[in-house]
Amino acid sequence: MTENLTQYIRLIPKAELHLHIEGSLEPELMFEMAKKNGVKIKYRSIEELQSAYNFNNLQEFLDLYYAGADVLLTEKNFYDLTMAYLKKAHEDNVLHTEIFFDPQTHTSRGVKFEAVVNGITRALEDGKKQMDISSQLIMCFLRHLDEKSAMETLDFALNHKDKIIAVGLDSSELGNPPNKFVNVFKRAQKEGFLTVAHAGEEGPASYVWEAIELLNVMRVDHGVRSIDDKKLVEELAKRQIPLTVYPLSNLKLKVVSDLKDHPLKKMLNKNLMVSINSDDPSYFGGYVNQNYLEVANALNLTKDDILTLAKNSFESSFLSNSEKQRFLNKVEVMNQKLR
Ligand code: ADE
Ligand code: ZN
Repeated sequence: MTENLTQYIRLIPKAELHLHIEGSLEPELMFEMAKKNGVKIKYRSIEELQSAYNFNNLQEFLDLYYAGADVLLTEKNFYDLTMAYLKKAHEDNVLHTEIFFDPQTHTSRGVKFEAVVNGITRALEDGKKQMDISSQLIMCFLRHLDEKSAMETLDFALNHKDKIIAVGLDSSELGNPPNKFVNVFKRAQKEGFLTVAHAGEEGPASYVWEAIELLNVMRVDHGVRSIDDKKLVEELAKRQIPLTVYPLSNLKLKVVSDLKDHPLKKMLNKNLMVSINSDDPSYFGGYVNQNYLEVANALNLTKDDILTLAKNSFESSFLSNSEKQRFLNKVEVMNQKLR
């Protein structure tokens, strides 16, 4: 790839719309928190832990991801975790980020919902002041748990509507289709939350149909399996429903066996509203620019493709129309400068 395209990718302003804050926990910070909090990690060193970052499927990754999250206990831990991510995002010219968090991962260990949400929110506020990063917070329900547990989590969130813009659905996809969560999504929408859901990561295209038809989500996370269903592709393109795609995550979780086989370019050609994000960067080997760089290299993407992806990231966000326009103007100014 040319140095010129590399620079273009690094400098073009971007939004990141699918980032699990727990998935940005770097091994160094994990060990530091474990030591301070007296939590045992089953790996003796950072190197030993990293050598375990080798997954055959989503579940193998999730097992390690939940074990890693055990070190997060205090509000300050959530603040430090979020601040560390924001610094990385800032280096990658991310101007706006919409962050996922999984409260059930923490409340099930006795951590207070408030410690989680307040720690993250305080960091987001400081990120705005110190780095001018704009942000939103999205609360995900764990789909391997039942709808009752999701309802209880939604109860907690009702006291924090000022901090949480949307609800989402993540964790083990196969065998946990969107239809399991119809009632809790209905209630969340009634309460004024926006909605997203992971679908079509490992699960079939029919899960994407369920996410858009039964849960009425505004955005689909991953959605790469949509490409298997011509009618679905037509529907997603017609309604311009955003798909937040993560090439390195798809590679690491064996959704694709080689980045050269990633459907991103096909999805762009079919006029789908796709954007590039980093999902769980600490576990999958790269923050957002790394995702852009590796997939651009594998698929021979052009500056025009990168420009479309960067614009899509803001178009797909939960920003107001005027905010979107303000960021899109910044993208255009940088584009002109770099051509
Ligand atoms: N939780 C964190 N990362 C995830 C992913 N890629 N898919 C589903 N659930 C997740
Ligand atoms: Zn995800």
